[in-house]
Amino acid sequence: MSIKDQTKKIKKDFLERLDNCSSYDGSQIIKNDYLGRKGKLSELYSKLQSLPRSEKAYAGKQINDIKIFLSQKIESFTSSFTEKKSDLDKKDFTLPGDPHPLGSIHPITLVSEQIKDIFSKLGFSLAYGPEVDTEFFNFDALNIKDDHPARDMQDTFYIEPGVVLRTHTSNTQIHTMLKKDPPIKIIAPGRVYRNEDISVRSYCLFHQIEGLYIDKNVTFGDLKGLLNYFAKEFFGENVKTRFRPSFFPFTEPSAEMDIYWGLETESDYRITKGTGWLEILGCGMVDPEVFKSVKIDSEKWTGYAFGMGIERMAMLKYGIHDIRLFYEGDIRVLRQFR
Ligand code: DAH
Repeated sequence: MSIKDQTKKIKKDFLERLDNCSSYDGSQIIKNDYLGRKGKLSELYSKLQSLPRSEKAYAGKQINDIKIFLSQKIESFTSSFTEKKSDLDKKDFTLPGDPHPLGSIHPITLVSEQIKDIFSKLGFSLAYGPEVDTEFFNFDALNIKDDHPARDMQDTFYIEPGVVLRTHTSNTQIHTMLKKDPPIKIIAPGRVYRNEDISVRSYCLFHQIEGLYIDKNVTFGDLKGLLNYFAKEFFGENVKTRFRPSFFPFTEPSAEMDIYWGLETESDYRITKGTGWLEILGCGMVDPEVFKSVKIDSEKWTGYAFGMGIERMAMLKYGIHDIRLFYEGDIRVLRQFR
């Protein structure tokens, strides 16, 4: 084989090996195999001696050219490694990294999810009612008479005569009963609005969860059992509860459920007005007047209803003392919830 053919073959093999090489150390082995003292090129040089004088010059140039070519290739191949190495040298791994902030779940969302989970396990399904509604759904059908103080302009936001921002989620009871025949077993979470002075305890909008169960032979005992179970699930096994007689136009009899908050600190006295007990929800047996307005036969069906404020529950569970913290979006507050 002529020197020229041999250089061609060397070039081809060399390039193939370099193609398959992916490390700096690998490239040094190739370099040595071709350009090293006992490498392929020095073998070729030694062959030069035996060539006739007329061919020597030409063959010598071929070998020199291939040597330059291989050297340049190896050089540029290894430089990619050495550059990377020196780039790394420049990096300071002790510097603090770029933060990737994690979002958190708003406590109102968190608590309403917890409440929904508890009732879902007991077979309640979700229902949603409109936030802008007529007086019929928000008041009349719930047996809240025209002269009831809740209708007062000071409490209710009127959109136009006869249309209000709902003042409670109880409107969803009426929507559900008009759409569906009993048995009914729903909870209805959502936002409600009241024209109240903004303070530590009240805000112009807040959240409630309504419950409604209608079936044959539903009793007040069922209602108490359900709500006691709920309180244990939500606040923990050791929670103490009590029911107090109360009044709501849409339930008869009506009650409020309190949980025992304690009387250890001065603020406990203030929050519980010196009793140690805190009201967390209103409830009762659906009033026959309500059944009448949605055309359900109250001789055949009975039911209970309840409603609770989500902010109130969140404040109790997480020891939040100012309702306004829920709406201000202060990241230092929100970050504490996951
Ligand atoms: N709607 C009442 C409120 O906003 C809460 C309530 C009380 C709902 C008793 C009920 C109930 O369903 O039976 O204060």
